[in-house]
Amino acid sequence: MKITIRLIVSLIFVVALVAVIFSFQQVRAEKTRLIGELERRAIVLAESIGESVKPLVESNSLDKLNRLVERFGNRERLEGVAIYDSQGNVLASTPNLALKISKPLPQIISSITENRPIHSFLNIAGNGKEISLYILPLPRTSEGEVQGLPQEEGVMGALALFHDASYIDVRLKGIWKNNLIRFLTLTMLIVVITLLVVRWSITGPIAKFSEWMRELRLGKGKSSQPDTSLRGDMLAPLISEVTHLAKSLSMARARAEEEARLRVQAESLWTANRLKEHMRVELGGKKLFLVSNREPYMHVKDGRNIKCIVPAGGLVTALDPVMRICDGVWIANGSGDADKEVVDANDKLRVPPEEPAYTLKRIWLTKEEENGYYYGFSNEGIWPLCHITHTRPVFRLDDWLHYQKVNEKFTEALLKEIADEESPLVLIQDYHLALLPLLVKEKRPDVKVALFWHIPWPNPEAYGICPWQQEILIGMLGADIIGFHTQFHCNNFLDTIDRFLESKIDWEQFSVERGGHATMIRPFPISVAFEASVSDRKAVIQEKESLREQLFKEIGVQARYLGVGVDRIDYTKGIPERFRAIERFLEKYPEFVGEFTFVELGAPSRTHIKKYRDLMTEVEEMVDKINWRFRTKTWRPIVFLKAHHSHEEVNHFYKASDICMVTSLHDGMNLVAKEFVASREDEDGVLLLSQFTGASRELKDAVIVNPYDIEQMADAIHLSLAMKPDERSERVKRMRAAIKEHNIYRWAGNLITELARLRTTDVAS
Ligand code: F6P
Repeated sequence: MKITIRLIVSLIFVVALVAVIFSFQQVRAEKTRLIGELERRAIVLAESIGESVKPLVESNSLDKLNRLVERFGNRERLEGVAIYDSQGNVLASTPNLALKISKPLPQIISSITENRPIHSFLNIAGNGKEISLYILPLPRTSEGEVQGLPQEEGVMGALALFHDASYIDVRLKGIWKNNLIRFLTLTMLIVVITLLVVRWSITGPIAKFSEWMRELRLGKGKSSQPDTSLRGDMLAPLISEVTHLAKSLSMARARAEEEARLRVQAESLWTANRLKEHMRVELGGKKLFLVSNREPYMHVKDGRNIKCIVPAGGLVTALDPVMRICDGVWIANGSGDADKEVVDANDKLRVPPEEPAYTLKRIWLTKEEENGYYYGFSNEGIWPLCHITHTRPVFRLDDWLHYQKVNEKFTEALLKEIADEESPLVLIQDYHLALLPLLVKEKRPDVKVALFWHIPWPNPEAYGICPWQQEILIGMLGADIIGFHTQFHCNNFLDTIDRFLESKIDWEQFSVERGGHATMIRPFPISVAFEASVSDRKAVIQEKESLREQLFKEIGVQARYLGVGVDRIDYTKGIPERFRAIERFLEKYPEFVGEFTFVELGAPSRTHIKKYRDLMTEVEEMVDKINWRFRTKTWRPIVFLKAHHSHEEVNHFYKASDICMVTSLHDGMNLVAKEFVASREDEDGVLLLSQFTGASRELKDAVIVNPYDIEQMADAIHLSLAMKPDERSERVKRMRAAIKEHNIYRWAGNLITELARLRTTDVAS
């Protein structure tokens, strides 16, 4: 209320000031005008009377003078007329004046002596009535002047006109009065309008707004956005800021709840056995269906033989252990050159080959489909779109058409597989199959679909460049659950939906409702299959030592320290940055020249894309350059093993290394980091981990680096190699505990449980 009063008082003060100034000016102008008018009237009258009076004064005809003044004396507003002689004595006057002007008036004497007309005001009756006095000196006739009499002697008297001027005062008071009434009316209007405007535009909206905020604070709010009636008002900027704040609050609350939930759950660790038992209950004998582009086992020709390899990448690392436990069908693209030779008539086979536990159903793509869908739209479009690594996405219509077609192809295969299943559970993996959730749901609304996005989700601005932004989002929202690695990516996704799709977002529940179908958006940080605890640490350390020896021998290097990097050769992994940091480390700390060797296990990836080929060339040239600069006869700083490596080979390097470097420029999670920690049964080794990986949110005991900061990374290598054994051990232990608690069994358990317990809703395309 105080502000309202202050506003009203200030407005009234300003209006009053303006009113006074303007009234004053108006009164002054009116007064000047009225006086001028009165004077002009007096002059005209005086001059016309003066001509008749002069000869009578000269001839001293007092009777005639008296008759004359009486005749003129009754004009409008003329109070009286008087005629004076040269000494200022009254010769004749209208009777009403006779008494009032008995004494000679000083103005009369001045006019006669100075021989000039005078106009002044006086109050002759002493009653406050203003009288205008106009005096016209009466000069002698030409005869007198001809005789050369002095000036004053040339004036024989004066004619005085007395006008009633009180009407001027009345008029001026009238103006003040009118203006006062106007001012009072204005004041009333100002008060009323100010009160209304303040109520409608300020206090009312603020009251609504604070009610909304109160509900939000108490967690009762239905919406994280205030009433639409508030949004266009003057509070709009504030509301927009607070809405963001509210979103953050909801997110923080959700995170806290999630953490609390995880803490409670963490009381019992998830193991393969526990997941198996859990799935038996949750699935109630149903099969699990998993769909991804990449297959978990790939058959390739090796001379005249066929060998089975496990493709590099987090997806397979994470999901194969889950499928081994849950059984079910994994539908994927058969991309190995010997894949067709090992499947049955339904394009299926049981895997893993050495211990079959689930079914792999292969889908065949034509070369054109693979080019357009996999290399083109998925990996030249969506991949760089979602990874903020300054690589420009390329979107081609032809690729998009293939992407759609292949998604339909996967849908057909899946529908065939689930034809006899009632409300089956389907886990769709990754960005290759963004359209699949909707395509499946349109045909089979009873299916429970989860889509897990293994890569980051960008902010809406970055995502906005995609020409098919809506189609992709709509396709994804066919799912009942969409999972990302981190809450941050969930937030980005919801912000993107908010920006590009007509839908209802519930920031409390983290869900999106569109056309009657609800999709939950949840973080499910993926992990590795880790549950074991070390029984004989001594034996482990011994094994490590012999492994180191063996590996140094294999790579033909003699060194004291060993570092490892395991990646698909991909521009998101920060491999050149890592090598630059190693080079800088050797420059800065020359005592490590000849002592430290870094082994890069680099699996060629997506080599039909030019960017990937160029990267491979760049990496090879860098290795050459750095090695040439520092190498000795028995040592070189970088060993680049460009090949696909088995889990066993990779594991050997993990176990034997002093440090593992994960320097991704952007990464959804990065399971190399977790695999390295999980492999360290000796509770030793240091993980250097990019701050731009999802894993860095969980593995706080890694040495966190910014891969763009070469100097910092060089120092981080030094710090890691110089780290005291106790600290290394403490850090690894804590990271192992974190991964053990949040392993892939928990990931699968949580995701599948949430999905199984969902009530599915229809989708609208
Ligand atoms: O990390 C994202 C991802 O798609 C993983 O899901 C997968 O394991 C990896 O990239 C490998 O990619 P690609 O299947 O193209 O070899």
